[in-house]
Amino acid sequence: MSAVAHARVVEHLQRLRLGFVAERLDAVLAEAARHDPTYLDFLDDLLRQEVAAKQRKRIAMGVQIAHFPSVKTLDDFDFKFQPALDHRLVRELATGRFIALAENVLLFGPPGVGKTHLAIALGRAAVETGHSVLFTSATALLVALAKAETEGQLADRLLFYSKPKLLIIDELGYLPFERRSAHLFFQLVARRYERGSLLITTNQLVTQWGTVFSDEVLAAAILDRLLHHSHTLMIQGESYRLKQKRKAGLLGQASPAAPSRGALAGGAGSR
Ligand SMILES: Nc1ncnc2c1ncn2[C@@H]1O[C@H](COP(=O)(O)OP(=O)(O)OP(=O)(O)O)[C@@H](O)[C@H]1O
Ligand SMILES: [Mg+2]
Repeated sequence: MSAVAHARVVEHLQRLRLGFVAERLDAVLAEAARHDPTYLDFLDDLLRQEVAAKQRKRIAMGVQIAHFPSVKTLDDFDFKFQPALDHRLVRELATGRFIALAENVLLFGPPGVGKTHLAIALGRAAVETGHSVLFTSATALLVALAKAETEGQLADRLLFYSKPKLLIIDELGYLPFERRSAHLFFQLVARRYERGSLLITTNQLVTQWGTVFSDEVLAAAILDRLLHHSHTLMIQGESYRLKQKRKAGLLGQASPAAPSRGALAGGAGSR
């Protein structure tokens, strides 16, 4: 290939935004000269490489925008440690279909059983299936909404939290909400209702949400919207964190499920 044609091909690849191949054109051509593929195989491999590079880039950007607090995947979740967890539902949720249908996911369980791990892993799976995701703790969300309200920016902030196709709210109920915060939370849930998915992790039974939101009526209105199109995952058992300590001999033998863990399981059902 003449130098002129080479430069033209690179320019055209760049104009078509096929940057991965443009940068590696010499290596791609050398590889083709070695293996002498058919025209179709050559083109197939070229396009496959570009598409794969674009997909990697899109996922990396989506993960960055989502602001996950750490890297967790379904592959490194030990399902054997959670035999009562509905594995099949977790796998189904990882396909992202619930997001296309604007359904919600509620993840209930006591401390250390993997709620945040699963929330991040499902969030990452959602990014991989092409959905926009944002991860926040309930506390950070409420602080941001309250600050925006004080500054007269509430509409913008609500819009910000309404845009991602999946909004993950971690640790709901760990700190009770003041009534003002509960009202803000209601506004967000009402905005997203039947438009965008929420994935919420909580250590509180739905029967406790009146206390969490300091208002039974508001809690009922929030729950009504959240549960209408929703999937429920219950995680029980021992804390994975404590299991590791127990292994190291720092704690005694595991006791049968503590009452709070058992009670937690009683309050919600699957859809
Ligand atoms: N089944 C599991 N397989 C592998 N790692 C797990 C599992 N369950 C929990 N972990 C790990 O244990 C740690 C605690 O889990 P995680 O933070 O998800 O718990 P949590 O339910 O969100 O707890 P909390 O209510 O205190 O926030 C994390 O490092 C997580 O990756
Ligand atoms: Mg957590």
